[in-house]
Amino acid sequence: MATIIEPFKIKMVEPIRFTTRAERQNILQQAHYNTFLIHAEDILIDLLTDSGTSAMSAAQWGAMMVADESYAGSRSFYKFEAVVRELTGFKHIMPTHQGRAAERILFQIVGGAGKVIPSNNHFDTTRANIEFTGAEALDLVIDEARVPSLSLPFKGNLDINKLKAFLAAQTGMPGPLAQRVPIGMLTVTNNTSGGQPVSMENIRAVSALLKQHEIPFFLDACRFAENAWFIKTREPGYAHKTPHDIAQEMFSYCDGATFSGKKDGLSNIGGFLACNDDTFAEHARNLLILTEGFPTYGGLAARDLEALAVGMTEVLDERYLEYRHACIEYFAAKVRAGGVKIVEPPGGHAVYIDARAFLPHIPPEQYPGQALVCALYEFGGLRGVEIGSAMFGKTDPATGKETFSSMDLVRLAIPRRVYTQSHVDYIGEVVLETFAQRQHIRGMKMAWQAPMLRHFTARFEPR
Ligand code: F0G
Repeated sequence: MATIIEPFKIKMVEPIRFTTRAERQNILQQAHYNTFLIHAEDILIDLLTDSGTSAMSAAQWGAMMVADESYAGSRSFYKFEAVVRELTGFKHIMPTHQGRAAERILFQIVGGAGKVIPSNNHFDTTRANIEFTGAEALDLVIDEARVPSLSLPFKGNLDINKLKAFLAAQTGMPGPLAQRVPIGMLTVTNNTSGGQPVSMENIRAVSALLKQHEIPFFLDACRFAENAWFIKTREPGYAHKTPHDIAQEMFSYCDGATFSGKKDGLSNIGGFLACNDDTFAEHARNLLILTEGFPTYGGLAARDLEALAVGMTEVLDERYLEYRHACIEYFAAKVRAGGVKIVEPPGGHAVYIDARAFLPHIPPEQYPGQALVCALYEFGGLRGVEIGSAMFGKTDPATGKETFSSMDLVRLAIPRRVYTQSHVDYIGEVVLETFAQRQHIRGMKMAWQAPMLRHFTARFEPR
């Protein structure tokens, strides 16, 4: 059969609440036109994120019931550790309450003023954690990633020539290179540039180049299974390998990883920091105890560790990954057919709409992405997220001058195993109806912002 169906049946349902357009206009105003500030109850279909929003399986809920909630040495930790070690091969596995907690510990150790950490693209929390220590977060993604319409199989790749040039420039400076460039990273899939995958060839090349300079290589592995699926279906030589074996190979080139279990852990909370280096691990464990908890629970309940252990296994199921990918493709095909420009090809966890192409009458300084996010909510009760100048732009505190992001995208992320095909049909319809009405959508003004990660709490006003 050609139809790819959801590889599960539904045992438990959760009602969603319908609102009128007039109600939503009022809600938007109350939330200062920032959809992060809307109560989730007022959202019909929530595409804000694929993070922590997965539907868990009966096996995950079952495992939670048999969790061992001991403070130290819990059986659930050893089960979690065994799953992660088998998959990643890392010697030290430290659970954290979510991905950014792993990032904070990592950069507290390796970050600091004068240091630079290269990656394909750092996600916003990664960048913020690096910058918080005074270090610089350097994005070296391939230039093609900046062209939304350009379709490439591995548009999340890091540009090896840029990394070579960067390292060559550093080599001439005083002091050991590894002190200035304490680690190198890759984010798989590359969320910031559209959920785009990184090829095994690129992972291998980055690993080899960093090794040559004795710089440890860390993976931001949040969406490792989706990345493995793209390698299987797009990279020569991998079609007959299992997603599990591909993921294992991906990790084999690295010295450590940060992970948010809220994505490809199919869990609602959790993450880990993993590495091979004993000294680093000792330092990390001390910091873990300081703010997260004892190293065998790391800020999580043991039941969360159980859910993660099962989730990280289920996520590598081929039928699941085939369905997951088909779902994103189906959504992308619908909006593309209606003339909406999206990041091509669609990534692993979301469809990213090119808001500048959608709203050509709204200039970048009027936040077209934010305007589109609000319009999608007003028209159909959808919640997406702006990935553009509200998120990545910056206001110079001294001059008040604003710098803008190179793209204004709106991400409509699909939670894992949550929505059905008719939900996706509805989402497509809302996007196309909004597109038909686009000339009535107005630009936005940022009326207030916090000094860090401003998009979460910023207040906007329509122009
Ligand atoms: N790295 C990447 C690539 C991410 O996408 C995220 C989170 C994190 C790190 C941090 O993990 O949330 O568990 O602390 N991304 C979410 C998103 C928030 O919506 O894309 P966390």
